[in-house]
Amino acid sequence: MTPDEPAPAATSRGGLEGIVAGSSALCHIDGRTGRLLYCGYDIADLAAHSSFEETAHLLWHGELPTAAELAALAEELRRHAEPNPAVWDLARAAGPQASPMAVLRTQVSLLGVLDPEAGDGSDAANRRKAARLVAQCGALVAGTERIRRGLEPVAPRPDLGLAAGFLHMLHGTVPDAEDARTFDVALVLHAEHGMNASTFAARVTAATLSDMHSAVTSAIGALKGPLHGGANEGVMDLLRELPDVEHAPAAVRAMLAQKRRIMGFGHRVYRTEDPRATILREHARRSGERHGDTRWYALTRAVEQAVLLEKGLYPNVDLYSGAAYTALGIPQRLFTPVFAMSRMAGWTANVLEQHRDNRLIRPDADYVGPALRDYVPLESRSAA
Ligand code: CMC
Repeated sequence: MTPDEPAPAATSRGGLEGIVAGSSALCHIDGRTGRLLYCGYDIADLAAHSSFEETAHLLWHGELPTAAELAALAEELRRHAEPNPAVWDLARAAGPQASPMAVLRTQVSLLGVLDPEAGDGSDAANRRKAARLVAQCGALVAGTERIRRGLEPVAPRPDLGLAAGFLHMLHGTVPDAEDARTFDVALVLHAEHGMNASTFAARVTAATLSDMHSAVTSAIGALKGPLHGGANEGVMDLLRELPDVEHAPAAVRAMLAQKRRIMGFGHRVYRTEDPRATILREHARRSGERHGDTRWYALTRAVEQAVLLEKGLYPNVDLYSGAAYTALGIPQRLFTPVFAMSRMAGWTANVLEQHRDNRLIRPDADYVGPALRDYVPLESRSAA
C-alpha cells in the first residue's frame, strides 16, 4: 500500500453478529421460535425433570447420565466440594467493598495456580478440573459473601446437591425442597448458551492451548459486564428505581424516551421471548407467593408489559432472575456470581470440546487507520 492509497473500508457489521465462529454439539438456539436445546434436549424438559448435576454430565459427555453415572458424579463433586482455604485469605484481603465477580475471577485463577494437576492439559485431567470447578464454585460465592458479612464460610454438607448446598452455605440453614428446586432450575437454565460472549472468551483462551482455569477466568471476566451476566443485577437496580406497580409503566416509558437501555430485555439471537425467561417467570411468581412477597414479581411483570408495548422488546433470562433470587434470599450482588456458578458447567464443556478439535481462534479486523505514511523524526513533529 502506498502512502496515498486509501485505507480499506470496514466491512464487518460489528460485534461479530451473524458470524459463525466455530461448531459445537453442545447447544442449539432457534432465536426465531425461542427454542433452546442442550445436546438435543429441550430446555423446558431439562428444567422440568433434570437437576444441575445431570445437566453438567450432559454437557461434559453429550448424554444424560444413567443412575450409576449420576451417583458417581455426585460422589466426585462431594469429594471436591471444599476449596483450597487460600481462597478465603484472598476474600479477606479483597475486603467487603470488592466486587464479588472480581473476587470470584481471582479465586478461580488462584485455584488454577494451586490445582494438583496444574501442569496436565490432557482431556482426562481437564475433565477432573471441570468437576472440581463446578463442585467448588458455589462454595466460593457463598463463602466470600459470608466473609464480607464478617462470618465464617459454612462447610459443604455431603448430603446436599449443588443447588441446596449453595443455599445452605450462603444462609447457614438447609433450604426447603421448593427453594432448592427453584434454584436448581435456575442453575439448569443458565448452564449453557451457545457462542455467547463469555463462552467465546473461554474458547479463545482455550484455543491457544492454554489451561482450563485460564479459560474460565477469561470467561468470568466477560460475564461480569452489564451487557452480559451483569444485566441481572442491573434489573434489580431498575426495579428499585420504580415507585410502585401502578406507576411503573410511565416510569419505564420515561426511561425509554431518554434512550436508556433496560436491563433484562433484548437479545442478539432471540427474536421472541427467551424460553428461559418463560420458565423463570413462573418460578419467580411461585417463590414470591410462597415467601409472602410478590412485590418484585409484580414490578417485573409491569416492566415487562411496558417494554414490550413501547419498544417491542422481549425479556431475556436475566429479567426474572432478580425476583426469583430475591425470594430465595440471595442478595443482588451475588446474582452474577450465581450465573457464573451455573455457566461454569457450560464453559468447561466448551473448553473440553475446543481442545478435542482445536485450531487457534484468530479472526481478522478491517483496518480503518491511516494508509502507509513517512516516519516523522521526533524533532520534526508538531502537535496536531
Ligand atoms: N433496552 C432498550 N433498547 C434496547 C435494548 C434494551 N434492553 N436492547 C436492545 N435495544 C435497542 C437498541 O437501543 C437498538 O435500538 P436502535 O436500533 O434504535 O439503536 C436495538 O434495540 C438493537 O440493539 P443492539 O444493542 O444493537 O443489539 P445487540 O444485539 O448488540 O444487543 C443486548 C443485545 C443483549 C446487548 C441488548 O439487547 C442489551 O443491551 N440488553 C440489555 C442488557 C441485557 O439484558 N443483557 C443480557 C443478555 S441475555 C443474558 C446473557 O447472555 O448474558
